[in-house]
Amino acid sequence: MSVQQSFLRDAMRKLNLTREAFAGRIGVTRRALDSWLLPIESQEFRSMPEIVERFTSEILQSSALEVNTQSVHHVISPAPISFEGRPQLISVEQFSRESAEALFRLADIMQPIARRQKISRVLEGAVLGNLFFEASTRTRVSFGAAFCRLGGAICDTTGFTFSSMAKGESIYDTSRVISGYVDAMVVRHPEQGSVAEFARATNIPVVNGGDGAGEHPSQALLDLYTIQREFSRLNRVVDGMHIVFVGDLKYGRTVHSLVKLLALYRGIKFTLIAPPSLDLPSHILEQISKNGNVVEHTSSLTSGLIGADVVYATRVQKERFSDESFEGYTPEFQINKALVDASCRPDTLVMHPLPRDSRAGANDLSTDLNHDSRLAIFRQTDNGIPIRMAIFASLLGVDNQVAHSMRDAAWLPPRYIGPDDAIFHGID
Ligand code: NCD
Repeated sequence: MSVQQSFLRDAMRKLNLTREAFAGRIGVTRRALDSWLLPIESQEFRSMPEIVERFTSEILQSSALEVNTQSVHHVISPAPISFEGRPQLISVEQFSRESAEALFRLADIMQPIARRQKISRVLEGAVLGNLFFEASTRTRVSFGAAFCRLGGAICDTTGFTFSSMAKGESIYDTSRVISGYVDAMVVRHPEQGSVAEFARATNIPVVNGGDGAGEHPSQALLDLYTIQREFSRLNRVVDGMHIVFVGDLKYGRTVHSLVKLLALYRGIKFTLIAPPSLDLPSHILEQISKNGNVVEHTSSLTSGLIGADVVYATRVQKERFSDESFEGYTPEFQINKALVDASCRPDTLVMHPLPRDSRAGANDLSTDLNHDSRLAIFRQTDNGIPIRMAIFASLLGVDNQVAHSMRDAAWLPPRYIGPDDAIFHGID
């Protein structure tokens, strides 16, 4: 993304305005604004006149907002991410709305690197320890890729079998030992609270890559970032949105983190659709029923989906419970094209943290929506890279150096990453 785009996106976020309303506020046409927000490589991309930049900065200033965006050339870092006084990311509860959005601003700056137009070496010489004691594809690889794209290197260990934990080594010892080898750690572990234990045993940055049925903060941040970017295109804001969560809300840690983050906004309507044995834990329910947010439970997918701005489907976390409690998860809980066509609008977003179980009879998010632009799952996974780069840059204190460190990439990436992506070209 160009500096111009991150400047404009940030201004819209700060003023909490839709594109339409923002265009009106700065006195330009929606069409002009859209052309300034397009990717630079798009034929319709236009440079924003300097006077618009100046005027927008004045509006931000007079709105008495923290003026991080005074100039498109001046980048100010997000508030430090801190857990018990250390630069670590364990829970979304460490964020305020402002600090989450400051991280999104940094993620916007990372976009040209994530899209392979630019390279940066701000983490040259740094080593990441990727410690995954549970199955993972995207979280482990995307944290690794994010660190590499900033110039760092990776060491990793996967599963208990080949780690010394199989010999009875404690979390404390493992964490302390690894801290002597690497400069940051990402940890995924099946026990809730375990990553905080890793974090307390070291002073190096630790990121929670998923602690049992606890939290998955980086996933929730990339989910909210995706919602904001998609909403900007669809002329909506997060405040007042209607989001429907479907599936395993009891053990789904991505849901736990995302509902808590969304509860930082105002007037959100949460519709929860889960079999009774897989309902959202009551302590989280209490946490999110604030700021005028409304929580509604239903067992009917067809009626629950009506009016949804976002449908967030999840996989049943079978690995976390015995089979009996799984009863009640019937095909009625499957999100597929027929259901989305019948109950949702043409601009409802369908999200999922992935992986989805694509085996026959799994009742997870269907693949028949793959050619439907409402399906945002691969925009979510793509956004995992800039968000995770932003997390590392912030935790390792190089956030201010990124914008000036970028050089053109020497190789040519494919025009569209996925075979179905052409239909999305230009939508952001
Ligand atoms: C999720 C997880 O591990 O919590 N996946 C992910 O990291 N994106 C969801 C899941 O496994 O169902």
